[in-house]
Amino acid sequence: MPKELKVFTRAEVAKHTSEDDCWIIIDSEVYDVTTFADMHPGGAQLLIEYGGKDVTDDFYGLHRQEVIVKYAPRLKIGTIENESPKIAIPKPGDLSKVPYAEPSYWMGFKSPYFNESHTKFRQALRELYADVKPEALISEELNKAPTLELYKFLGEEGVLASQIGPGPWLKGLKLPGGIKPENFDYFHEMIAHEETARVGTPGFVDGISSGYSIGLPPVFNFGPPHLKERVVPEVLLGRKRICLAITEPYTGSDVAKIRTTAKLTPDGKHFIVNGVKKWITNGTFSDYFSVAVRTEKGITMLFIERQEGLETKGIKTSYSSAAGTSYITFENVKVPVENILGKEGQGFQVIMYNFNHERWYICCSIIASTRMIIEECMKWANQRKVFGKRLIDQPVIRAKIGAMISSLEPVQNWLENITYQMCNMPYLEQSQKLAGPIALLKYQATRVAHNVSDDACQIFGGRGITKTGMGRSIESFQRTYKFAAILGGSEEIMSDLGVRQAMKYFPKNARL
Ligand SMILES: Cc1cc2nc3c(=O)[nH]c(=O)nc-3n(C[C@H](O)[C@H](O)[C@H](O)COP(=O)(O)OP(=O)(O)OC[C@H]3O[C@@H](n4cnc5c(N)ncnc54)[C@H](O)[C@@H]3O)c2cc1C
Ligand code: HEM
Repeated sequence: MPKELKVFTRAEVAKHTSEDDCWIIIDSEVYDVTTFADMHPGGAQLLIEYGGKDVTDDFYGLHRQEVIVKYAPRLKIGTIENESPKIAIPKPGDLSKVPYAEPSYWMGFKSPYFNESHTKFRQALRELYADVKPEALISEELNKAPTLELYKFLGEEGVLASQIGPGPWLKGLKLPGGIKPENFDYFHEMIAHEETARVGTPGFVDGISSGYSIGLPPVFNFGPPHLKERVVPEVLLGRKRICLAITEPYTGSDVAKIRTTAKLTPDGKHFIVNGVKKWITNGTFSDYFSVAVRTEKGITMLFIERQEGLETKGIKTSYSSAAGTSYITFENVKVPVENILGKEGQGFQVIMYNFNHERWYICCSIIASTRMIIEECMKWANQRKVFGKRLIDQPVIRAKIGAMISSLEPVQNWLENITYQMCNMPYLEQSQKLAGPIALLKYQATRVAHNVSDDACQIFGGRGITKTGMGRSIESFQRTYKFAAILGGSEEIMSDLGVRQAMKYFPKNARL
């Protein structure tokens, strides 16, 4: 039963100052911390020294708001007479009101791209992820893979389906916010990636989104009908997990050099696969694998089910093992020839077909994560007092935040422009025109993340490199933003590809 709250005067609260009877005021609300003091992670004595006082500023200088949200039901005993709280405690699922914390359309600016259905979709996902977040935080911390139950929940709610783009595979599926599959566009998908990233647990987030969003497209775009009919619904409803296995210890950027072999059996009915794959996201718990192999005719993509001879083991990286990052060994794995994705020897085209979408999706995620870091910096700089002033009152800190915002907004706007092209260009035109811009956007988005991470760490000081407390998200970001700068094509490869693509269209008769 909820406690009955009483009304006190400040003078009454001021009498409760001893270790046997200690009250404090935070934002016009009264907390009895007598029994809590001994358990207080910051120390009992310190809390008692503050007994009877209004500690609002001190509290917010040292604790994230989630601390008071968690402890209020146990410790709050009343409110201060004729006063009401001044600090907003957002409800789970609320959009942020902090400037630049949301893309501009959601902060009241006009946009040619978005409509009511995008707002409904974002709201539904934000609320849904508010329920998932507690589990995400625990899994991230304990290196635990997302459970199959969670996958099934995300599948049934249409969250998985909303991260692989519009297409016939959405037919008949429920989507968040009640969006009809035929009205679903790449802006909805962009929002899906942004909201997933906002959960703020990078390893876990890759655990619930990275494997299938790159592993399933080769099946629905190039798979034979028998595989499409069975595998696509199983994965989209969260009953089975799939990943994409291209990279090997010998070769990453240079995909054409892969060494995993697939030899045809004498009866021509099966391939026998041998080789190793490295860093395969979601591999530790996947049932299915879209795998690049080398046959007599060249690079070929195969759909392979978990079976004897296929072993996966975890690889520890800078983020949580919740992502299921794996090393895979194939030892005489038998695969029916009907499991070729696309045509034998044409696997390189299948891989390239996937890349634009994968890189665009990485841009959506890293830009949203960077925006969250800016929000954290704005809040922290507003509440942390040093040398008797808020950090935000220091010109040097304002200059850092100014640099962050003014570097993020252009990449968000470029992302939205490219997303508009994806909504309006047929596939062939997209592959001719968008590979370069997407690669350059990815390059710039991860350069921005790098600079924002660096400045954010400085603004948070020691807390920016501490895993718990106020700087938790900053620490996690500075440890993990590099994933986006390497996966799906590293920065060096992205800028090079962008310029090479541009030079393809350079007019032969142009001169300085
Ligand atoms: C956590 C994690 C998850 C991953 N998930 C997957 C997955 O699910 N599936 C999958 O198939 N792969 C996955 N990868 C592999 C990833 O795609 C590769 O790491 C990436 O392509 C780079 O390859 P590499 O690490 O072998 O670097 P290399 O190719 O060895 O390159 C090393 C460095 O040299 C630079 N470089 C390379 N060539 C050039 C050049 N021509 N000019 C200038 N600089 C160059 C690169 O930019 C890079 O920084 C994952 C990797 C990690 C770390
Ligand atoms: C309702 C009242 C309070 C509750 C529920 C509370 C709870 C907590 C919790 C959970 C932590 C650990 C935070 C983390 O590492 O994430 C913490 C740390 C701390 N608390 Fe409190 N606290 C309260 C009031 C206060 C007050 C009034 C002070 C003194 C101004 C204080 C000073 C500290 C300090 C110094 C730390 C350590 C911070 C750090 O490691 O940087 N707390 N508190």
